[in-house]
Amino acid sequence: MAQKFFITTAIDYPSGKPHLGHLYEKVCADSIARWHRLKGEKVHFSTGLDEHGAKIRCKAKEAGKNPQAFVDEMSKHFIGLCKLYGISYDDFIRTTEKRHLRSVLGIFERLEKKGDVYKGAYEGLYCVECETYYLAKDLEKGKCPTHGTLPQNVKEESYFFAMSKYREKLIGHIRKNPEFIRPEERRNEILSRLKEPLQDLSISRTSFDWGFKLPNEPSHVFYVWLDALANYLTTSGYPDTKYKKLWPALHIIGKDIIWHHCVIWPCVLLSAGIELPKSVFAHGFIRTESGEKMSKSKGEVIDPIALAEKYPIDATRYFLLREVPFGEDGNFSEAALKTRMNSELANDLGNLLNRTIVMLNKYRAGKVPKGETDRKLRKALALPKIGKHMKNLEPHNALAEIFRFVAAANAYINEKEPWKKDGKELDNILYSLADSLRIISILLSAFMPSTSEKINSQIGVKSALFKDTKFNLLKPGTKTGKSEILFRKAE
Ligand code: MSP
Repeated sequence: MAQKFFITTAIDYPSGKPHLGHLYEKVCADSIARWHRLKGEKVHFSTGLDEHGAKIRCKAKEAGKNPQAFVDEMSKHFIGLCKLYGISYDDFIRTTEKRHLRSVLGIFERLEKKGDVYKGAYEGLYCVECETYYLAKDLEKGKCPTHGTLPQNVKEESYFFAMSKYREKLIGHIRKNPEFIRPEERRNEILSRLKEPLQDLSISRTSFDWGFKLPNEPSHVFYVWLDALANYLTTSGYPDTKYKKLWPALHIIGKDIIWHHCVIWPCVLLSAGIELPKSVFAHGFIRTESGEKMSKSKGEVIDPIALAEKYPIDATRYFLLREVPFGEDGNFSEAALKTRMNSELANDLGNLLNRTIVMLNKYRAGKVPKGETDRKLRKALALPKIGKHMKNLEPHNALAEIFRFVAAANAYINEKEPWKKDGKELDNILYSLADSLRIISILLSAFMPSTSEKINSQIGVKSALFKDTKFNLLKPGTKTGKSEILFRKAE
């Protein structure tokens, strides 16, 4: 049976239109999901929207809409963005869906049965932007450390989850499982924060009503993070037992929400008696040129839908994946995007394809000749390294390695000077190039799916799987397609 692979992204607040930071996470998770499909695994990739809570209610009010109509409208932008950028999700979950209510109630019931829920009153600080409770000591100059805004003073009746009970168990799990929180810097950050006592968590709110109601307590709605985190179980089919076929997942999230994913979520699961996530990987932030985290509340954002009118989808995908080491922060600028697009995509990859197809058309009437791929070229492809990088969640390194092979193929042309050759020797050179491009296209399909399709149609092959990255599998006689420019250089 095919191995299964379950990957999730965070679910976005549809409080405004999506920006490049939201897209970044989806592109990275998408490439990892596509990579595993390429390896023949059975993948479940989920993404979606976090539609309840005070923040959404407030934005809907500002827009003069009821919250449901507001999120229905906003959801179109997020779904449209996914379609535009080729995000190959298997499930797009919206937390206002009925199936999700069943899941939230199912989890709550388990916490209650365990005796981990009690009634009280919450009095303290709350940041609506990140929907998070804060202790005064965790603020920066009295402001939310993520948003730089003043938190609200909240006082309301609330149900609590006895999270403090699970501190030691959680620490034990993190220590025993080095892959549970990645990268290591984030793991250390969580372990260091867990040195202090853990507070119980307020899991219901009574000062507004935009959320699922607690059973038998209609004046209480679930705290939006409890509701949101449960999405990972909903998408796997919870509360029906079939969820066990998929669960546990690899969660891809941003570094601003590691507390919720690496502390709150595992404590809830420990209480509910459900297996903990396989791994939580926290990526860094896409920053604007001024070095600020791209965020609606901070003002400066890049609209990825508008960006797609100026640059090919795959150029932006490539830039995001290649420029930013996964796990670290990275700056976005159009100048840097253009530089990579012009040199690596148009020059290196585009010219390799163009030269190969033009020569096949000119010297061999558009047919792949009988031949064998050059040994030196074969040795230049470090497949195990590429696989290892993807296993370690380093798409930037995998791409760098694939492009090292692209460079080797270009150097091979320059060294062999096919225009000076003929006969069997020319056959072998042209075969080597077309066969190498076929393999490059398979590998790139995880990162730049439509570019891979374009390469395939020019060489005359169909999309294939990782197992087909062996050399000399290209059929002699394959009819090449029309030579077309892969990436046009931008001024
Ligand atoms: N709704 C919560 C997540 C709930 S998951 C159970 C949330 N939403 S968000 O819209 O604020 O952020 C969604 C994801 O986008 C998060 O993982 C966040 O880190 C990521 N990003 C938002 N801005 C970002 C950048 N500027 N750069 C990279 N990722 C960023 O948090």
